[in-house]
Amino acid sequence: MQGFIFNSSKSIICELGAIRRIGEICERLRIARPLIVTDPGIAAMGLHERLLSALATHQIPCAVFSSVVPDPPEATVLAALELALRERVDGVIGFGGGSSLDTAKLVALMARSSESLQQIYGVEQAKGERLPLILVPTTAGTGSEVTAVAIITTGETTKTGVVASQLYPDVALLDAELTVALPPSITAMTGVDAMVHAIEAYTSLHRKNLYSNMLAREALRLMAKHIETATLDGGNLEARQAMLLGACLAGQAFANAPVAAVHALAYPLGGRYHLPHGLTNSLVLPHMLRFNASHAGALYAELAAVILPAEILLSGTAERCTQLITYFEQLIATLGLPCTLAAVNVPQADLPTLAGDAILQQRLLINNPRPVTQDDALAIYRAAY
Ligand SMILES: NC(=O)c1ccc[n+]([C@@H]2O[C@H](COP(=O)([O-])OP(=O)(O)OC[C@H]3O[C@@H](n4cnc5c(N)ncnc54)[C@H](O)[C@@H]3O)[C@@H](O)[C@H]2O)c1
Ligand SMILES: [Fe+2]
Repeated sequence: MQGFIFNSSKSIICELGAIRRIGEICERLRIARPLIVTDPGIAAMGLHERLLSALATHQIPCAVFSSVVPDPPEATVLAALELALRERVDGVIGFGGGSSLDTAKLVALMARSSESLQQIYGVEQAKGERLPLILVPTTAGTGSEVTAVAIITTGETTKTGVVASQLYPDVALLDAELTVALPPSITAMTGVDAMVHAIEAYTSLHRKNLYSNMLAREALRLMAKHIETATLDGGNLEARQAMLLGACLAGQAFANAPVAAVHALAYPLGGRYHLPHGLTNSLVLPHMLRFNASHAGALYAELAAVILPAEILLSGTAERCTQLITYFEQLIATLGLPCTLAAVNVPQADLPTLAGDAILQQRLLINNPRPVTQDDALAIYRAAY
């Protein structure tokens, strides 16, 4: 067996209503005055009130930063950091989707280590320690609560990552009561994103290992079983908790066996047209599966056996691989997501530029089971059009 290293968050609490334990968790981590990092949509809904009242029960005062914008730019991180320093907080609680969690991770690190963003961009560049950190996802998608990554928008169309082991939180708290109000479209997009994390981790050319395989399979099993219910019947707590856990397992998988060409072709769509991350993955997914089938067919067939009921599963590898692709095409349509680049108003004339952007994502493309050239990327965008 090939050797491997597996890392993840220290503690995962997966329990309905677990937000009410936040006071005792803070006490355990010796947080006396946390900064809550969230976004204006969540604040307007009052979703974070549950967190505030649980802290109040334990007489824990806090500061609140509720101005995280989607795909956060540097300015968001710096504004949250300024508040953290001004309020002299001694811990950070990220509460929201990937945008809030990524911001919270960086603030926890920078408030303690005093390193600048420019010093920590890249892989394991951060040297200092962070403040105690709790991450509470309110979308079931990015898996940011169990990854060592924070993604920041650094230019008009570019994103830059900080990858540092300090970014794993002390506690990831998965409570489906916080996700019941997530609208169907966001549930569907973030859910498909998480399923892509599991698929790409399972076929990753680098650092794929026994743990990441187990996690990816179980993540897909859970999410395939529950994504339609969670999307179409949002109040179903069982489906919601299963999606949170599935996205978390997929996050653990891709934190160790990194994602590949679906994400490489999705990023330029997000960067240029500000389409949601999950939607961009969904638009590329079936076409990339078809492209990769010649090199990853056997692995896709294994995943088909995880997702599809035994009574409809065909016997051959090629047949199962085709069944997996068809499954995702049908799922995306059932969830009501747009199925083509034309449907989300991507100008056809931009496809060559997008292919040029995608080929720059070598960090991701090297993990893909089949090599992707710029011509291949263009052909895949055309197929998705
Ligand atoms: N760190 C990682 O490992 C990692 C991995 C993938 C993506 N990302 C990043 O995560 C970000 C995307 O995160 P996301 O897809 O979770 O979306 P998001 O955090 O940008 O949130 C999207 C929208 O959902 C709303 N929302 C969130 N929770 C809600 C709830 N429970 N009820 C109602 N509305 C709710 C928010 O108000 C917001 O308007 C991007 O910046 C992406 O680059 C990070
Ligand atoms: Fe993703």
